Formats: sequence, C-alpha cells, structure tokens
Amino acid sequence: MNFNITTENIAEIKSDLEIIIVIDKNLDHRFVQDKKLLKKAGFSGGQDEICHLIEKNRLYAGAETLKGRGIRPAVATAIRSLIGKKAYKNVKIATYLSHPRCTASLRAMVEGIVLGRYSYTTYKSKKVKSSIKKVMISLEGYNEHEVTAEIAARAVHNGEITANATNFTRDIVNAAPDDCYPEVMANSAADMAKETGLKCKILKPKQLKEEKMEALLAVGRASRHKSRVIHLTHKPKNPKAVISLIGKGLTYDSGGLSLKPAEHMVTMKSDKSGGATVVGIMKAVAEMDLPVEVHGFVGAVENMIGGDAYKPDDVLKAKNGTTIEIRNTDAEGRLVLADTLCYAQQEVKADYLFDFATLTGACVVGVGHYTSGVMGNADEPKELVANMATQAGELVTKLDFNRHLKKTIKSEIADVCNISNTRYGGAITAGQFLSEFIDDEHREKWAHIDIAGPAFVEHAWGENPYGASGAGVRTMLRLIEKLARTQEKQDHTPDN
Ligand code: BES
Ligand code: ZN
Ligand code: ZN
Repeated sequence: MNFNITTENIAEIKSDLEIIIVIDKNLDHRFVQDKKLLKKAGFSGGQDEICHLIEKNRLYAGAETLKGRGIRPAVATAIRSLIGKKAYKNVKIATYLSHPRCTASLRAMVEGIVLGRYSYTTYKSKKVKSSIKKVMISLEGYNEHEVTAEIAARAVHNGEITANATNFTRDIVNAAPDDCYPEVMANSAADMAKETGLKCKILKPKQLKEEKMEALLAVGRASRHKSRVIHLTHKPKNPKAVISLIGKGLTYDSGGLSLKPAEHMVTMKSDKSGGATVVGIMKAVAEMDLPVEVHGFVGAVENMIGGDAYKPDDVLKAKNGTTIEIRNTDAEGRLVLADTLCYAQQEVKADYLFDFATLTGACVVGVGHYTSGVMGNADEPKELVANMATQAGELVTKLDFNRHLKKTIKSEIADVCNISNTRYGGAITAGQFLSEFIDDEHREKWAHIDIAGPAFVEHAWGENPYGASGAGVRTMLRLIEKLARTQEKQDHTPDN
C-alpha cells in the first residue's frame, strides 16, 4: 500500500472513496457535506461510529478528539469496515491536525490506516483482505510555514514503519502454536534481522546450559520443541542511549503439570506476545535507523507436560545463582524471564531495561483487558513508559511494589518461591519476583510491562481486530524516539 501526500484540494483528488472524520459529534463542520443524510442514517459522530454513504462514495468516521487517541481508532474502524470490499482501491482523506505545527495526528491517522487494514488470513482457504492500494492525504488548508511537505512525509513514514511493525508482531502472535514454536520464532527473527540489517544471535540448549539458564531450560524440558534465546542488536555509531528489551516468548503455555483448565488454555498461543513485541520493536528501530543502541532479548520456550516435565516441589537455580522453589508450573513466564533478564544484563550494560510479558491473569483482573501494568523499583522508568503510552495511544497504568507483598514470595526452602502465598496482588508479586533478578546496577533503570490484558483481543476494540494487537510496540517506539531526540533541541511534544 502506498501513501501519497499532496497539497491538492481534497475535492479535486480522484478516488474510489473519501474518508471523512467527524470530530466531537460536530456535523456542522465544513468537511461534513451530508448532514441531513447522516442524521437520517442515525449517525451521530461518536467515537468509532461509522457511516458509509455508498452512493456518495463517502465514509464518515466519528472521533471524540483530534488527538491521536481519537483519530487512530476512528480511521482504523473505517478502514476495517472496507476489508473484503474490492471496489475501494484508492481512498482519499484530508489532514486533521490538532495543532498546525504538530503532526502527531497525521502520524496517528497513518497508523490507523495500516492497523485497520490488517487481517490474519493464513489459515483461511478463502482469503478476505483489504483491497486498498493507495491512500491520498491532502494537506489542503495548511501552508508551507505550518507544515512542510518534508515534515509531513516524515510523520507518514514513521507512522507506516510503526504500524507495519505492530502488524508484524500481530502475525507472530496469531500463528498457531505448532507452526510457531521456539525454533520457528528464532528463525523468523533471524530472517527479519537479515532483511533490516540487525545483528542476530540465537542460543540453543547447549549454549543455554553453558550460560547456566537452568530455570528457562526446566520450563521447556517436556516440549518436543527445544528452547531458544534470541538476541537482536541495533548498534548505530555514537548512540544517544543504550537500551535492552526483554520479552516473554512462551510459544505455548499449557500450564505444565499444574495444567490449565480447558477454557483457560485456549488463546495461550498468545503467551509469546512479549517476545513478539520485542521482535516488532527491533524491526522498526532498524527501519527508522534510530541513533539509539537497542538490544532485544527473547526467551522462546514451550511449557508442556510429559515424563520429564518440571514439577511443583522442584527447586531450580537461575543464572544469577538465586534458587527458586516451584509450587506452580503455570507461573513459568517469570522463570523464563528471570534467566533472560540475567543474560541481558550480563551481555549489555544498559541505560534502560524494559521487559514485556503476558505474565499474569491477575493483571487483567486488576486493570481490565485494555490496559497494561507497568512496574519497577524506581518511578522514572515507569513514568516514562506511562507517558509514552499516552502519546502512542496505548493504555498503561502504574502498579506500585510494596514491602508487604514482597514477603508473600518468600520460600521456606529456597531463596524465593515462584508463586505468592496470597491470592491477591498477583501482578505485583510477579513483578517483585522479577526484581530478584535485576542487579544493583540496573535496579533503578528497569521497568516491567505486563501486557496480559491487551496483547490478545477476543472482541475487537479501538484499532484492534480479533486476535493479536501488538501491544507495547507503539509505546516503546515513541520512547526510543524520544531518547533519540535527547540533546537535540526539544521539539513540540505532542500530547495525545
Ligand atoms: N500466561 C499466563 C498469564 C496469562 C493469563 C496471560 C491470561 C494472558 C491471559 C501465565 O503464565 C500464568 O499462567 N500465570 C498464572 C500465575 C499463577 C499460577 C500464579 C495466572 O495468572 O494464573
Ligand atoms: Zn502460565
Ligand atoms: Zn504464561
């Protein structure tokens, strides 16, 4: 699909369809020519409401605000409604800027289009896809002083890269567990690295053993698919910062011997979302060629049952020497992350360390399906993630650690237990478990993001269709882009 930016008047552009955004239910706006018809159709212009006037070749979409968080899902919903409709190949849309010099809403619009076009058809015999080939964006109404063609082009370019990377993450997560197991996940990361110029190192069981990653290896032991750790590197000259990203890549989580009940096991192919998010971010970082050194680590493992499965009552020794009493084999993500976090810190001394994981059902219970939880020992990295999420149009909320919950993961026989002794506060106790594997040097530089809620969507919402959402990709890219701008003159920071 191609984007064309033009200064041509929107009315003059030839296309199969025009998409018109109605802001804040304002049907009196100059862009809205069909007020009467829209009213007749019962369209009020509310957020994510759409109305397709077929004979007029106009598709109206409601947004509650011009900011990205309004525009992105509105446009995505409109574009999604065209999937399977072959008549619409060329569409046009005007520019909606919340501030004349701030292109955040233009970028959000592009992201919405690319995200809205996404459909996962790999397993369908009849593939129903979006037919849109060309999107013409009119800069009509803005003069060169307000938004230059170059600045607009950059917003479109970065928006495209960001949303394509999100769709790449979605593809990995949506793949069936027997088509995407650790070796496959590692190979697809390696293929992507080759295409984008990233460095890629894959650790197989022999090397994982040499690295003393016994906790990670124990989780994967009963699977016929052997574990991998993936390390992707983007290393520009004179980087502005060094950051490490770590992802939970459980290609399937059956729960292990502490087997999940049938209804909870379905969708557990999505337990690789954290890892897939890291791979997607790395792709975009390479494509944008950001002046930040970024390392992506993924622990790719399958949690299964079998004669040699790890079991409750086992005691495992993690890479940093910490011993872990296993009381539930379904709390496996934290074991995989423990070793992957240790490995990442051994390999790279980073300014920031962020991990992504579908870690706990408790996080979903606590904050709902739409929101991720961000945790850590220090406020600064948590704040940074939460603020960048707001800019990226993702929902992330802070969950604070405390010393009382910390005591609930004590073990009588080992250094720490893999589950808490209370049924409450499970997202936080999992986060506090992870903090046992963060060394002193990185203590205040680390944040953990539990994406268990938004990573997999069972009923479409906002810019997300059924299935994987690519949660975390947009937030982290905004964050890395911000680090890339440090020391440069601060530009107008959009708040959307
Ligand atoms: N992968 C799950 C968490 C999860 C649940 C992700 C729902 C997405 C949706 C994780 O490995 C898990 O099973 N966690 C347990 C922890 C418990 C045994 C302490 C959970 O949340 O129930
Ligand atoms: Zn589990
Ligand atoms: Zn899991």
